[in-house]
Parts: sequence; structure tokens; C-alpha cells
Amino acid sequence: MFSARQVFGAVQRRSFSASSRQASKVTVLGAAGGIGQPLSLLLKLNPRVTQLALYDIRLAPGVAADIGHINTKSEVRGYDPTPSGLAECLSGSEIVLIPAGVPRKPGMTRDDLFNTNASIVRDLAKAAAEHAPEANILIISNPVNSTVPITAEVFKARGVYNPKRLFGVTTLDVVRASRFISQLRGTDPANENITVVGGHSGATIVPLLSQSGYELKGDELAEYVHRVQFGGDEVVQAKGGAGSATLSMAMAGARFAESLLKAAQGQKNVIEPTFVQSPLYADKGCEFFASNVELGPNGVEKIHPVGKITEYEQSLLDVCLGDLSKNIAKGVEFVKQNP
Ligand code: NAD
Ligand code: LMR
Repeated sequence: MFSARQVFGAVQRRSFSASSRQASKVTVLGAAGGIGQPLSLLLKLNPRVTQLALYDIRLAPGVAADIGHINTKSEVRGYDPTPSGLAECLSGSEIVLIPAGVPRKPGMTRDDLFNTNASIVRDLAKAAAEHAPEANILIISNPVNSTVPITAEVFKARGVYNPKRLFGVTTLDVVRASRFISQLRGTDPANENITVVGGHSGATIVPLLSQSGYELKGDELAEYVHRVQFGGDEVVQAKGGAGSATLSMAMAGARFAESLLKAAQGQKNVIEPTFVQSPLYADKGCEFFASNVELGPNGVEKIHPVGKITEYEQSLLDVCLGDLSKNIAKGVEFVKQNP
């Protein structure tokens, strides 16, 4: 009889030997923050990560020293906030996760973060375009609906934009949608996978419950949709001014990074919802849109269409597209005005 550890080890060795890439450097920009720290911890526990590079404007070497004592194989290094520190941190990265920026306080929308976070993301994107132009860039900093287009514009201006490698992380919306339906129906959330499309803020978050065979009606449906769309506000209120979701976001970010690594290492049928450059609603002013995306060694492999939806879901989608197109245009305009 084999022990569970022997079996897991054997499976892992097989998947690694079948992989196209053996060494995976993963970088976190904003690594000392509320999301950055638990995200870095989860990445340190991931055996697919071989090098973990942590950058922040404060404390990154300390966080790296702490996480670096965990007895998994990956090498961890923290970098000081200098141009050379940032350059070295980024260089050779397969994945760059960006949770740098300020979080919301009660009463704020994600768009209220634009004035502060747009320039933070723009500047980090400039560094990534220069030092890690081929990496998968995962944007967590809000407002995601605008920070992703900002990153795209920065990469375009430097002639290194690859739309298959830029992702807005919307995984938390799907995590919430699955958790909330399981709470309503008493199911195991691990078996729920509710499709969520659109963007990542309020009415731009569109859960497609009907696609999972659920037929909620009336108030129950409206309350469920509202909870998914405004789940972030629930956490912001509960934290009472001390920030927004950090721990659930760290889990969601680590899940998305793991999916990209699996896909890069040859696993098929890796599908995650994510906010990417998409043809689905480009004619409605939404050059970026979140839907289920199949991931592969080159990043985006296939963008799945929204599929069959109810009239009610279509009405949600119509509202989403109106808001989303404005958020996207705002990001693009920001880079034009502030290159
Ligand atoms: P936080 O304030 O706890 O941490 C942010 C970190 O970014 C800090 O450590 C700060 O020093 C660092 N930072 C600021 N400017 C930087 C720069 N120029 N370079 C490097 N690091 C820099 O905030 P948080 O709770 O971790 O949230 C971070 C962002 O993530 C916020 O914008 C928040 O709205 C967003 N967020 C997104 C999602 C999502 O689903 N995409 C979920 C939760 C939070
Ligand atoms: C979330 O969905 O939790 C994040 O976007 C943070 C926020 O501001 O709500």
C-alpha cells in the first residue's frame, strides 16, 4: 500500500515531468499589504512556484524573511523600493500579481480609488513592461475595470502588449457566488461553480445562476444577485474603515495563479473567469470583459462566450455594459493624459 504522501508525490512528479516549464518565478507587487502577505504565504505553499519575489514600498524584505522560513522548496526574496530592486524583482517572472494600492473605506465605490491607484498601477506596469514584458500580468488593484485597460495602454505604448497575458483577477466574484448559493441551498460550495461575467464592481458583476440549473425567483433572486454584486461592500462595512477583503482575495489570487501555472505546465481544460481583452462586447465599447477563459501555455487560450441566459440576466448584462464601457474608457483616457 502507498501512503497518501507517496501517491501525491508521485502524481506531482509526473505532472512536473510532463511540464513544459520547470522553473516558475512568481512576483508580487504590493506584497506587504493586506492581500499581499497572505497571498505570498499561499504562493510559498504552492509546489509549482520555484521562486517568489516580493516587492512593496515598505516591509517587503521583512515579509520575505518571515515567509522564507517555511519549509517548502521555493526561494523567497524581498526587494527594497528602488528602481533596481523593482527591476530585479520583476526580471524573469512568469507571473506578476499586482495588489498594490489603497483599499476602500465604507461609503466609497471602487471608482473612488481611481485617483490614487491609477498612477500606482501605471508606474508598476511601466516597470513590468520593461523588465518582465512576457510575464502573465494579474491585476488585483481596484478599480480593476480601469486598472486593466491602464496596464494594456502602458504595454501598448512600449510595443510589448500581448492581450493573452493580461488578466484582471475576478476570481473572488466566482468564489463568492459559489459560497452564497451554497449557503442558500445547503450544498457543498466546493461543488458549486457559478459563472460570473462582466467586470469587477457593483452592477458590472453579473452572476449567471441559470447556467448552473438554479431557478431562484423574486426577492430571493434579487437578494442573491445584490449580495454577489456588493459582496465586497459587506466586507468593507464589517472592517469599519480598516480596509476591504484581503484573506478571501488572497485565496482567490492564489487560485488564479495556480490555474495559470497548471496550464503553463501542460494541464488541459483549465478554465477560470477573468477580465481580459475580449471580442464579446467590443462593439458595445467594452474592449475588456470577464467571462470563462480557457488558459494555456500562452495565457489566454480560448474566451468562452456568455452562452444562454435568462431575460433577467440579459437586463443585468445591459446595465453592466453601460457602466463597464465608461470604466474602460476612463482608464484608457488616463494613460493618454498621463503617459
Ligand atoms: P493594503 O493597503 O493593505 O495593501 C496595499 C499595499 O500596496 C501596501 O502594502 C502598500 O505599501 C503597497 N503599495 C502602495 N503603493 C505601492 C507601489 N507604488 N509599489 C508597491 N507597493 C505599493 O490594501 P489591500 O487590502 O491589500 O488591497 C490592495 C488593492 O486590492 C486595493 O486596491 C483593493 O481595492 C484591491 N482589491 C481587489 C480585489 C479584487 O477582487 N480584484 C479584492 C480585494 C481588494
Ligand atoms: C472586493 O470585491 O472585495 C474588492 O474589490 C475590494 C472592494 O473594494 O470591495
